[in-house]
Amino acid sequence: MTGTRRIFMTGATGFVGRAVVPALRAAGYTVRCLVRRGSEHELRGLEAIERVEGNVLAHETLERGMAGCDTVIHLVGIIREHPATLSTFERVHTQGTVNVLDAAVATGVRRYLHMSALGSRPNARARYHKTKWAAEEAVRSSPIPWTIFRPSIIYGRSDEFVNLLAGLVRRYPIVPVIGGGLQRLQPVPVEHVAEGFARAVALETTVKQTYDVVGPDPVTMLRLLDLVGAAVGRTRVRKAHVPLGLVRPLARLFHRLPGFPLTPDQLLMLEEDNVGDPQPFYTTLGLTPVPLATGLRAMLG
Ligand SMILES: NC(=O)c1ccc[n+]([C@@H]2O[C@H](COP(=O)([O-])OP(=O)(O)OC[C@H]3O[C@@H](n4cnc5c(N)ncnc54)[C@H](OP(=O)(O)O)[C@@H]3O)[C@@H](O)[C@H]2O)c1
Repeated sequence: MTGTRRIFMTGATGFVGRAVVPALRAAGYTVRCLVRRGSEHELRGLEAIERVEGNVLAHETLERGMAGCDTVIHLVGIIREHPATLSTFERVHTQGTVNVLDAAVATGVRRYLHMSALGSRPNARARYHKTKWAAEEAVRSSPIPWTIFRPSIIYGRSDEFVNLLAGLVRRYPIVPVIGGGLQRLQPVPVEHVAEGFARAVALETTVKQTYDVVGPDPVTMLRLLDLVGAAVGRTRVRKAHVPLGLVRPLARLFHRLPGFPLTPDQLLMLEEDNVGDPQPFYTTLGLTPVPLATGLRAMLG
C-alpha cells in the first residue's frame, strides 16, 4: 500500500472533514477536496489543499475531480433530509456512495476509505442507518481495497451534539432529557477519527476491515450530561424527563422548522444503544483512547 500521494476527499467542509484534512496533510498527503458551490468558506484556514467543485449526486463532477488521485476518502453524510433539493438519505448515503465508488473504479483509484455510522444495519428502524448500511454493502462489493469506519457520536470543538448539550447545561437550571435517558452512547474525539483515517490510508491490515470507532467509555445520556456539566464547571446538572410519547409528535410536526433540534429519524436513533468495541480500532491504528471526562474537559473547559 505504498506510493499514495494524492487523496480525493468528500465531506471536507463538514465537522469531521475539517479535522481529517489537517491530519492527512500532516501525514504528507496531497488532498483534493470536493466542494459544493457555496460551501468554499468552510475550508477557510485549511492551507495547501486542492479544491474541485462538485456534488456526490453529480457523477461527472466526481470522475473529473478524481482524475490523478490514487485514494478516495468518502465522508459525506446528512443527518437531516432536504426534500426540496432532493437531498434524501437514499440519494445522499446510498446513491452518493455508489456514484463515488463507480467514479473511483473508472479513474483507477487504488484505495478507498469509507465513513459509515455505528448502528447501521439492514433492519434498522432509522432510515439514516438503513441507507448507511446499504452504502456499506456497496463498499464491501467494490474491487478497490476498502476500509469502513463506524463511529458512535463524534465530539469536538465544532460538533453539533455535545455543544448542544453544553449550551443547555450552561444556559438553563434544568435540562430536558428525552425519555428515561438510559440509552448508552460511546462518544469518540474527532481528533482520533481524523488520525484513524490518516493512518489507515497506508495500513495494509485495515483493508477489507470494518471498525467500530468508539471511545473507551459507554455512557448513558444522563451520565453524559453530568460529564458535560463537570466539564463546564457545574457541580450538579438537574434534569427533567420529557416522555417520548410527547417528543415524537413534536418532532414529526416541527422538524422542518429552522432551529428545531430533532428529526423523527434522529429520535429513533436516540432511543437505542449506540455502543461498540473500541479495541480493534485503537490497537490497529496505534492510537491511545482518552477517557471521556478528559476529552470533554479539553473540549469545553
Ligand atoms: N458527527 C457525528 O457525530 C457522526 C457520527 C457518526 C457518523 N458520522 C458520519 O460522518 C460523516 C461526516 O459527518 P459530519 O458530522 O462531519 O457532518 P457535516 O458536518 O454535516 O458534514 C457533512 C459533509 O457532507 C457534505 N455533503 C452533504 N451532501 C453532499 C452532497 N450531495 N455532495 C457533496 N457533499 C455533500 C457537506 O457539504 P456542505 O458543506 O456543502 O454542506 C459536508 O462537507 C457523515 O457521513 C456522518 O454520517 C458523523
